[in-house]
Amino acid sequence: MKKIQIINGPNLNLLGKREPGIYGNQGFEPYLEALRKRYPETQIEHLQSNHEGDLIDCIHRVGFDFDGIVLNAGAYTHTSVALLDAIKAVNTPVIEVHISNVHQREEFRHKSMISAGCKGVICGFGLDSYRLAIEHLING
Ligand code: DQA
Repeated sequence: MKKIQIINGPNLNLLGKREPGIYGNQGFEPYLEALRKRYPETQIEHLQSNHEGDLIDCIHRVGFDFDGIVLNAGAYTHTSVALLDAIKAVNTPVIEVHISNVHQREEFRHKSMISAGCKGVICGFGLDSYRLAIEHLING
């Protein structure tokens, strides 16, 4: 059984309530349940944290064992050298995802500190960005 870790960074606990015009009306938990039903042969774990160190600890914990990490680092995407170093330190491929198309938004969101360490980047497909990343990790 393949093992995939989804990591959601700061403010993504508020999905469904937070700026719905940008991030939609759906909370992450029901979406996660639907993903698990869609991929019953895959173990899909999820961690959300508003704390940078928790995201790093999770990458270290699964990064030598799991088949892939789907990482939405939220605003840390644009600031965190520590996350980039963590991604580079592990073997497991990391796919960077964003719900919104960050390139259509403020200029500070156009720069990602973590992309250079990631296998690829998916952004702008709403919550479907996560499924597209998982699809690659399972079948790609
Ligand atoms: C985000 C985009 C980031 O710029 C922002 O800080 C987020 C969410 C997205 O999923 O679209 O928190 O990563």
